[in-house]
Amino acid sequence: MASIYAGLATSHVPAIGAAIDNARTHEPYWQPLFKGYEFARQWIGEHMPDVIILVYNDHASAFSLEIIPTFALGCADEFAPADEGWGPRPVPVVKGDAELAAHIAQSVILDEFDLTIVNRMDVDHGLTVPLSLVFGTPAAWPCRVIPLAVNVVQYPPPTGNRCFNLGRAIRKAVQSYARDLKVMVWGTGGMSHQLQGPRAGLINQPWDNSFLDRIGPDPRSLIKTSHLEYLREAGSEGIELVMWLIMRGALNDDTRVLHRFYHVPASNTAVGHLILENR
Ligand code: DHB
Ligand code: FE
Repeated sequence: MASIYAGLATSHVPAIGAAIDNARTHEPYWQPLFKGYEFARQWIGEHMPDVIILVYNDHASAFSLEIIPTFALGCADEFAPADEGWGPRPVPVVKGDAELAAHIAQSVILDEFDLTIVNRMDVDHGLTVPLSLVFGTPAAWPCRVIPLAVNVVQYPPPTGNRCFNLGRAIRKAVQSYARDLKVMVWGTGGMSHQLQGPRAGLINQPWDNSFLDRIGPDPRSLIKTSHLEYLREAGSEGIELVMWLIMRGALNDDTRVLHRFYHVPASNTAVGHLILENR
């Protein structure tokens, strides 16, 4: 039987991908950031998943403003890196797990979470930067990845509560899958950041750290956070953090924090990173 053993959360700042792709990770600006991911690289080498369900948002790369699915599950065999304006990142094609993805789609849709099924989709920095942070620059990604794209770009995004409950439904789906698979769920985006307007550059370290304090032991204290609070406290793009709640919902109530990292700044963004293991 398949089961979820751990979750990982990380920001997905595109400049991190550019630093990796242009061999600048040892520069003084970037060194402290990449140091924060050394634990993840070592740990995952010893606890390699068969499949990652990778929750991220598309930044108008695969979807334009013409079609904006709230939750879109990648059910294809593979997903190419998207061209975000400078050509696709020089990273491997992402290999999916069409069979498990179809099972998850069936299970959660019958549980009344109306996912969009996506059979062709390029994946942008939201998905590829976390893979690069954790796996480095391999010739092929070491495990399969099922993308779950969440709309946090165009109002209205889903609520944190909805995201947490979708994570719960994904957990149930994985647990009812007959193949023996080790599954991880990753939540990406955040932390506080605002890329536009008069408050561009906003970072709220106390708010971010309170989120990091609570998501492991007390996620239910976060799921009612309103869109307005995310906007006010974490900036216009801080809403990406609802995606961490899908990851958290997919884990057991009782988890252990294996690693926690927070760093300011990367680009205009506060970077947060957590690894939670099911107890
Ligand atoms: C930036 C873009 C993102 O999608 C993000 O999550 C953080 C930062 C940026 O353009 O700097
Ligand atoms: Fe983003």
